[in-house]
Amino acid sequence: MLHNGCLEKASQWLRSAKSLAVLTGAGISAESGIPTFRGAAGLWRNFRPEELATPEAFARNPILVWEWYEWRRELIAAAEPNPGHLALVELERRIPRFTLITQNVDGLHDRAGSRKILKLHGDIWTDRCTVCGSEVVRQPGEKASTQPPRCECGGIRRPGVVWFGEPLPADVWRKAEEAVQNADVMLVIGTSAVVYPAAGLAPLAVSRGAKVVEVNLEKTPFSSMVDCSIQGKAGEILPKLL
Ligand code: OAD
Repeated sequence: MLHNGCLEKASQWLRSAKSLAVLTGAGISAESGIPTFRGAAGLWRNFRPEELATPEAFARNPILVWEWYEWRRELIAAAEPNPGHLALVELERRIPRFTLITQNVDGLHDRAGSRKILKLHGDIWTDRCTVCGSEVVRQPGEKASTQPPRCECGGIRRPGVVWFGEPLPADVWRKAEEAVQNADVMLVIGTSAVVYPAAGLAPLAVSRGAKVVEVNLEKTPFSSMVDCSIQGKAGEILPKLL
């Protein structure tokens, strides 16, 4: 579809939307300077997920995994939300039923001012005890240890994110599916659409007859199935959609 005509249509759909579901991926934070996972400069080009982002990796080498997450936390703490994040805050203000579903763990949607956020893959600023499950939420930029901290119960704490091979938090997933099933418009922003179950949400919206709009630098497996696929930077396109 032609970029401009598509943009105009998409903004009309957003203007009349009663219920909007938004799915974001690493691409929305790229313009804030946070590396994505796939693509030329993606994290998975230089790091192996099975050594850093699985429960087995943490059991084998907790310090290595912890240090990698500390490095990512430092990058994120130095970053600021961009106009893409801010456009979603404005949409939440305008549209009566709004749900932001994110695969991102960086907390930039919170810092931008979004309120209703379903975090499918957890939050890098939360530490969770591997024994009792209790959670501690840190402030971005808070100085942390070079080793996984200990919980009062004696267990070690791990990053509160979802690793490969782990299920998504069940209640969060249920709410995400519900929001998508009830949406009349869905926006899919900055995700390569290859990691399931999150990647199943856009096809679900299509099957329910919602208008689905994708914003991505590149074509993805979704592009041919959505009503409107806009190629460009989220930080430039989303403010135009408003
Ligand atoms: P990916 O790194 O797989 O994909 C990022 C997408 O963003 C790509 O399709 C890019 O084309 C697009 N992109 C890059 N810059 C953009 C920009 N400025 N504007 C719009 N789009 C842009 O990231 P995700 O799809 O989020 O999971 O990855 C999904 C999951 O895989 C992550 O949550 C993470 C990862 O492994 C876990 O760690 C469990």
